[in-house]
Amino acid sequence: MARPRVLIDTDPGVDDAVAILLALASPEIDVVAVTAVAGNVPLAKTALNARRIVALAGRGDVPVAAGRAQPLSEPVVEDSVVHGRDGLGDLDWDEPAVALDPRDGVELIAEMIGAGPLTIVAIGPLTNLAVLLQRHPGIDRDVEHLVIMGGASFQGNVTPAAEFNIWADPEAARVVFDGAWRITLLPLDLTHQAYLDDQDLDYFHSLGTEVGRRVAAMLEPYAQFHDRWYGTRDVIMHDAMAVYEVLDDAAIQKRGVRVAVETDGVHSRGATFIDRRRENADSPVRVGVTVDNDRFRARLRERLASFVD
Ligand code: RIB
Ligand code: CA
Repeated sequence: MARPRVLIDTDPGVDDAVAILLALASPEIDVVAVTAVAGNVPLAKTALNARRIVALAGRGDVPVAAGRAQPLSEPVVEDSVVHGRDGLGDLDWDEPAVALDPRDGVELIAEMIGAGPLTIVAIGPLTNLAVLLQRHPGIDRDVEHLVIMGGASFQGNVTPAAEFNIWADPEAARVVFDGAWRITLLPLDLTHQAYLDDQDLDYFHSLGTEVGRRVAAMLEPYAQFHDRWYGTRDVIMHDAMAVYEVLDDAAIQKRGVRVAVETDGVHSRGATFIDRRRENADSPVRVGVTVDNDRFRARLRERLASFVD
């Protein structure tokens, strides 16, 4: 059976970086492109970071292109307090060996959809996908599977009501969730079940490889942020859950839902209302409910250990 073709739409982002490395190390899938979007940090930085991570993985065969620099509505993009000023924990990097593909990121997504069955892993704001649908009406029906890290059933992170990827561009999220894609949504109440601890950071460093050293180094400031924000250094692997779903669709338990996005609320802008009522059991939109963290950590360790210098 052919390996699923996968495009990653991303705003690296430390947890994006781990997700991209997991994808590039996994033989079950064929990563055909990476497209950057403004989010954790401005587009110029997310595009550079995507190139850095693809180069770190030694995958110059994977095109990296830049998508949208601003959300559909008012600009909210500013430097991240979560991921460092450069978006990857403020390490020192050489100029990446992977050049920026000159194609418009949104058009590269359309091109990859036209080339055959495609799974899109969306781990940043949904601006690129909303513009894709606006420019190419009906293209959502040509996508095999859209896996989104975003939203929250009960409690946000960037506000009490909203999760960052949705909050950063709620209008885009509404356009996407009003589409006809087959969607798997991995919200905060799922992703908070998946985290790494200091033993994992020590393990990555002990690998003695460039990937191991850099993953451990970029996770350290991320762990310090978690300690300040949540009172524990456990680092939540939000975006890696979207890749993990594609690697093994039995790993995350799911159920059918309908999703509505709030765009107007004074306190609730960017909130996702995830309707789990039984009438939605057969919906083409599913939400992740539970995941076994020990199994996930073991898989991540095994895959990142596969990179050799
Ligand atoms: O809320 C978590 C999401 O926001 C993740 O995608 C993380 O990278 C940040 O962008
Ligand atoms: Ca992200």
